[in-house]
Amino acid sequence: MTRKINEGDIINVGVIGCGQIAQMMHLPYITHDEHLRLYSICDISQNILDNVGAKYHVPAEHRYLDAGEMVKDDKLDAVVIATNDHYDPAVKAAKAGKHMLVEKPFMYSVAECDEVIALCKENNLILQVGYMKRHDPGFQYAFEKIKTLKDVNLVRVHDYGGSFDFTTQIYDLYPKSDLSQETLDAIRKKIDDTCIAEIGEDRADIMQSYSLICGLSSHDTILMRHCFGYPEVLFAYVPKPGFVTAFLRFENGVQGILESGLVMNRRSWDESIWVYSNECNLSIHFPWPYLKNAPTIVKINENEPGSMVNYDKEVIGSFDEAYRREWKHFYQCIVEGKEPINSGADARNDIKLASDIIRAVKI
Ligand SMILES: NC(=O)c1ccc[n+]([C@@H]2O[C@H](COP(=O)([O-])OP(=O)(O)OC[C@H]3O[C@@H](n4cnc5c(N)ncnc54)[C@H](O)[C@@H]3O)[C@@H](O)[C@H]2O)c1
Repeated sequence: MTRKINEGDIINVGVIGCGQIAQMMHLPYITHDEHLRLYSICDISQNILDNVGAKYHVPAEHRYLDAGEMVKDDKLDAVVIATNDHYDPAVKAAKAGKHMLVEKPFMYSVAECDEVIALCKENNLILQVGYMKRHDPGFQYAFEKIKTLKDVNLVRVHDYGGSFDFTTQIYDLYPKSDLSQETLDAIRKKIDDTCIAEIGEDRADIMQSYSLICGLSSHDTILMRHCFGYPEVLFAYVPKPGFVTAFLRFENGVQGILESGLVMNRRSWDESIWVYSNECNLSIHFPWPYLKNAPTIVKINENEPGSMVNYDKEVIGSFDEAYRREWKHFYQCIVEGKEPINSGADARNDIKLASDIIRAVKI
């Protein structure tokens, strides 16, 4: 049973998957928001469940090892799914009538996306995907400016991530799960099998680059799509596993480049979107994703109106945190029954695009 939620009502939220991102972002923002109540938690690791449950004072009867059991509770309104593979908990939550905020990547195949979207539609549920950068104030400032540009020549997404080892030093996390190697292998195998079903057995060797686009670059492909539409993939290249470069053509003929990779032996973060137009050059520089309230910086180079005098400006949209805003948006969508900005139907296109890119690689 899905209850009707009115403006101002407090909703009961369950967290499925209480690992790093849940502990760093979702649990703190749920407990700080006046409209959200942390109602129940679920994790297949008893160790994580005990520690997170104790820290957040979740009663023992609201701690679950099995998401299917958790979603049977009629008092639970919504869940956030922050497991490694989202498919099984999402199907269970949808069948039980729970609104859901699903972490990215939404799913690892278009078929899985379609199944979950259909279940949520059938049950009149809000399905939001956790692309928090779409709610980032710096991006939103840039988005409004990009919408005014008439002659865009090139869009370039540069997405080189690094090690996140500092997170355990700056947050109090319970990273040690007690999962057996067998369980971890089974989770990995399910994800790998889904990826291979999507991209084809002949591309198994470059599956890591597909996971990279689904996981890391989808944060930026959704932003590119929201600015310029769905692109055709002209050419894609995997120089080595875990890296990818793609040349794209957007709906209005704008050319695009996506370059992405992970260098895990160093602490570095270099994620930016560059838009070159006849009116201005604009770039959006994202901070480390796990640093709360670190601002996204927008750089603009343009001429003074009616003159060839040229200037640079740097804009900090706000210090507000994108994760906090994503939760507020999710709540508002539930109250108003409206489609989230990052709906499941929209996020499906990032999985489709990742698949298009990998299928365009010559092997
Ligand atoms: N929005 C972002 O920028 C962002 C950042 C980091 C991670 N993520 C996404 O969040 C998800 C989790 O990432 P993480 O870094 O927290 O991983 P993690 O491995 O630290 O946490 C995952 C947790 O889920 C639990 N789990 C696995 N399967 C489960 C199941 N079926 N039911 C209940 N619990 C289950 C694990 O025991 C673990 O505690 C991933 O999909 C990841 O891509 C998103």
